[in-house]
Amino acid sequence: MERQGLNAKVSTNDCKGENISRKRKIAEHRKSLPVASVENLLIQEVHRNNTLIIVGETGSGKTTQIPQFLFNAGFCRDGKAIGVTQPRRVAAVTVAKRVAEECGVEVGQKVGYSIRFEDVTSSSTRIKYMTDGLLLREALLDPYLSRYSVIIVDEAHERTVNTDVLLGFLKKVQKTRSRSLNDSFNTRNTNISGLVLENGNNGKYVSSLRQHRGRKLPPLKLIIMSASLDARLFSEYFGGARAFRVQGRQYPVAIFYTRKHVSDYSEGTLITIFQIHLEESPGDILAFLTGQEEIESIENLAKDKIQKLPESKRNLVIIPIYSALPSEQQLRVFAPTPPGVRKVILATNIAETSVTIPGIKYVIDPGFVKARTYDPNKGMESLIVFPTSKAQALQRSGRAGREGPGKCFRQYPEDMFYKLEDSTKPEIKRCNLSNVILQLKALGVDNVTEFDFLEEPPRQAIFKSLEQLILLGAIANDGKLSDPVGHQMARIPLDPIYSKALIVASQSNCLEEMLITVSMLSVESIFYHPREKLEEARAKMKSFSSPEGDHLTLINVYQSAEEFLNKKKLELSKEKLEKSLRKWCKENFINSRSLRHARDIHSQIRRHVEQMGLPLHSCGDDMLQFCRCLAASFFLNVATKQPDGTYRDCASGEMVQIHPSSVLFRKKPDCVIFNEFVQTNHKYIRNITRIDRLWLSELAPNYYALKS
Ligand code: CDP
Ligand code: MG
Repeated sequence: MERQGLNAKVSTNDCKGENISRKRKIAEHRKSLPVASVENLLIQEVHRNNTLIIVGETGSGKTTQIPQFLFNAGFCRDGKAIGVTQPRRVAAVTVAKRVAEECGVEVGQKVGYSIRFEDVTSSSTRIKYMTDGLLLREALLDPYLSRYSVIIVDEAHERTVNTDVLLGFLKKVQKTRSRSLNDSFNTRNTNISGLVLENGNNGKYVSSLRQHRGRKLPPLKLIIMSASLDARLFSEYFGGARAFRVQGRQYPVAIFYTRKHVSDYSEGTLITIFQIHLEESPGDILAFLTGQEEIESIENLAKDKIQKLPESKRNLVIIPIYSALPSEQQLRVFAPTPPGVRKVILATNIAETSVTIPGIKYVIDPGFVKARTYDPNKGMESLIVFPTSKAQALQRSGRAGREGPGKCFRQYPEDMFYKLEDSTKPEIKRCNLSNVILQLKALGVDNVTEFDFLEEPPRQAIFKSLEQLILLGAIANDGKLSDPVGHQMARIPLDPIYSKALIVASQSNCLEEMLITVSMLSVESIFYHPREKLEEARAKMKSFSSPEGDHLTLINVYQSAEEFLNKKKLELSKEKLEKSLRKWCKENFINSRSLRHARDIHSQIRRHVEQMGLPLHSCGDDMLQFCRCLAASFFLNVATKQPDGTYRDCASGEMVQIHPSSVLFRKKPDCVIFNEFVQTNHKYIRNITRIDRLWLSELAPNYYALKS
């Protein structure tokens, strides 16, 4: 007993010592950041200007430090908060955790974060990191954003569709908050300079208005932060707003190109990782890949390769980072590398500017990025792997020169670089706008074409998306959100087509099944098929597969995992339970990270639909009922078999094929609904269920009567 006590004491002391030294290191690091030297100047500028644009090199301390400067300068007096929006969930979470540590508080207290499906804030939160989409949702309940004194729109150069919409919305809120609000609160429908806001039916929004009746809100300070150098567009949009530049530090980065075109950049990346490891001086490696699937496959291949190296060369750790990774695993990229070990970070483009990783000396850039594209003529949206722009390539190579001179290995010949587009086309010009339109309408912007966008989306895309919302029943004849369906859809934080599916399912007594379906459809690749165990993996997948298609197959996986957990729940602690689920996943060739993400999403959406009072029934073994419900929900995505075995998408007339990952790949039913359109060398549809064609005129009479 005594021995144990003694040991415990020693380790606490060690821990304390470690803590103190970590605190000291953090304080020193903060002082050394480029923004630290301009703190006073910056605060002065914020006092003088209601809108300020801050441009600074990635890693100069904008995201982590500026909110703290504002807090210290008294911007959170009267209980007001500073809101910082990020385009990416990963950035919101990791930065909030870092800033909480810098402030010496638990995350969720003074410093917190809120992202879709995860809210780590409390009434004492004063610095709140969140995704830009989440702030737009908050605006539905608090249209003046009255709890905020400052909103920082971070990473504005990324130009995600939510950032663009948010900027337009903030511009209006800012104008209204500068005026007295007394007059505007007299009517039931409140008008914010052209925005008609209807009272929500959940009481929350009404009380937020009441709270401020008769009180004047302070002006909303708006700070737009960007890593790229072109602040002009933002400045002009905000009536000539002042731009402030933070001088960053950048060491030279030597750029290397391949001699010839690289046909398989995954393999090229893998080879380059090991070349650097075996030939170059110490320093961590950052490789940019396009998505979770690709990262995981390279992660596995690299781990196998490490085992084959001589013992003395195995000092290489592989760390993935992408959006759907559980948040405690995301933080691993920031952990200092142990002495003598080299870290290889496999990242999506989140590591370009949103997340600054210390210690990087080598960058591998295959030159591709996965991004959304939308064809408004066909109404088809898909994720496509594109070449990066020059601006992205420069940002990526810049990551190697943050702490000293570095090297960047571009996986393409030099002449390719000069052929790249200068900058990336903003997302609003290449995505389906249904979600944006639904959100704007929920915020009271009925005529979307008149909204003050930073850059106009294509008219055709607006009309096509409007048409989709009308077909889904979200918009009534007067152009406003329909009651209750449109309002309900706007409240569920999912793609409109999935929100509608939940509502349809609640009416046909299979909401339990649909909840699982949309959660599983919201994550990437549930199954994984390692090359060396392909047959075994296929056999396991077969044990879950349903003859009806992928949707019921995904439900089988989810329910089997739940059954497994229920059986083990009584005998295991929470931690051991998680571990045994991971083991179960491995045995069944299920991607445990994806399944975990899907389970998180499930519990969050479940809460939403429960709050909305939708009845959570299950259709049990009645597959027919569920398949009919899928047809009623996804009637816009129907494909029919052609004599040659390919399929024709009914909406666009496009010829497509069933994706090889589908359980229906070989079965080829006559008529299917699908959820995803994937474009590689071929046009594929994915996540498919067979349906009876005759159901369509019965379940979606308006659309299918129109079509025939
Ligand atoms: O926003 P900006 O790119 O200007 O920089 P930042 O994100 O505020 O990062 C400032 C510094 O904090 C960088 O050196 C990061 O490496 C470090 N940081 C960290 O060590 N851990 C985090 N979770 C976030 C940032
Ligand atoms: Mg930043």
